[in-house]
Amino acid sequence: MSYENIEVRTEAGKVGIVTLNRPKALNALNNALMDELGAALKAFDADDSIGCMIVTGSERAFAAGADIGAMAKYSFVDAYKGDYITRNWEIIRSVRKPVIAAVSGFALGGGCELAMMCDFIIAADNAKFGQPEIKLGVIPGAGGTQRLPRAVGKAKAMDMALTGRMMDAAEAERAGLVSRVVPFDKMMDEALGAALQIADFSQIAVMAAKESVNRAFESGLSDGVMFERRLFHALFATADQKEGMDAFVNKRKADFKHQ
Ligand code: HXC
Repeated sequence: MSYENIEVRTEAGKVGIVTLNRPKALNALNNALMDELGAALKAFDADDSIGCMIVTGSERAFAAGADIGAMAKYSFVDAYKGDYITRNWEIIRSVRKPVIAAVSGFALGGGCELAMMCDFIIAADNAKFGQPEIKLGVIPGAGGTQRLPRAVGKAKAMDMALTGRMMDAAEAERAGLVSRVVPFDKMMDEALGAALQIADFSQIAVMAAKESVNRAFESGLSDGVMFERRLFHALFATADQKEGMDAFVNKRKADFKHQ
C-alpha cells in the first residue's frame, strides 16, 4: 500500500517503523494521516514477522497536534456526528504488539496524545511536550486529560492543560512521561535497539506483558493482580516458556519461535 502522509519501512524484517511525514505542517495530524497511520500499524500488527513497532516524526516535530486549519470551521455537529477529528485514533489502542514513540521536537496537543497512546516514549533531548488546546478555546480530545495525569500526576497535568505550557525532555523524564532521553542523533538507534530486543522475545509473552500493564490503568489492584496471574499461568502452555527457561538452565541464548 502506498501512503502520502507517512513513510513506512521495516528493520531487520522484524521491526515496523512509521515516520509521520507532513513536514510543512509540522506533522499536523489530519484525517488522511491518521487513516494511514492506523492502516500501517494494523498491517504490522497482523504480520507475524513483526515483533515491535516505532512511530516517529522529524527532528523538528513529532507532531504539532491535530490539524487546526482543518478543524477551525467545524460546528459541533461536524465534530460530533461526523467524528472527523477523532476518527481512527482509537485504532492505535487496539494494536496488540508494542508500539514505541520516538519523539523529537514538538509533541503538542494530539501529537502529545498520540505519543502517550504508544506503549512508551523514547525522547530526544530537544523534545517538547504540551497540551496547548486551552489556547485555542478547546481541551485535549484524544485522551490527554486522562493519560497525562496517569503519567505525570495531577499537579503537572493540570498545569499543562490549564496553562498550555510545554515540558522539555528533561522535565518529561523526571515526571515519568518518557522512559529515556538521548541526544537527537542517538534517538532512532535507541528506539531501534529497544524494538529489536522486544522483537526477539516471545511475541506471546510480549503481548501478554503489554496487556497486563495496560490493565493496571483499567482495574483495581486485586483485579489487576488476578488478571496478571491468569496470563502468567497461561504462558506455561507455550513452547516459548519451555524454550526460555531451558535456555536459562543450560546457559544458552533462547531462540523463541513465538508459539
Ligand atoms: C496545522 C500547523 C499546526 C497544527 C503548526 N502548523 N502546527 N498547521 N495544525 N497543529 C503549521 C503552521 O501553520 C505553519 O504553516 C507551519 O506548521 C510551521 O509552524 P510555525 O508556527 O511557523 O512554526 P514555529 O514558529 O516554529 O512554531 C511551532 C509551534 C506552532 C510552536 C509548534 O506551530 C504551534 O503552536 N502550533 C500549534 C500547536 C497546537 O496548538 N497544537 C494543538 C492543536 S489542537 P505555514 O503554512 O504558516 O508555514 C489538538 C487537538 C487534539 O491537537 C484533538 C485530538 C483529536
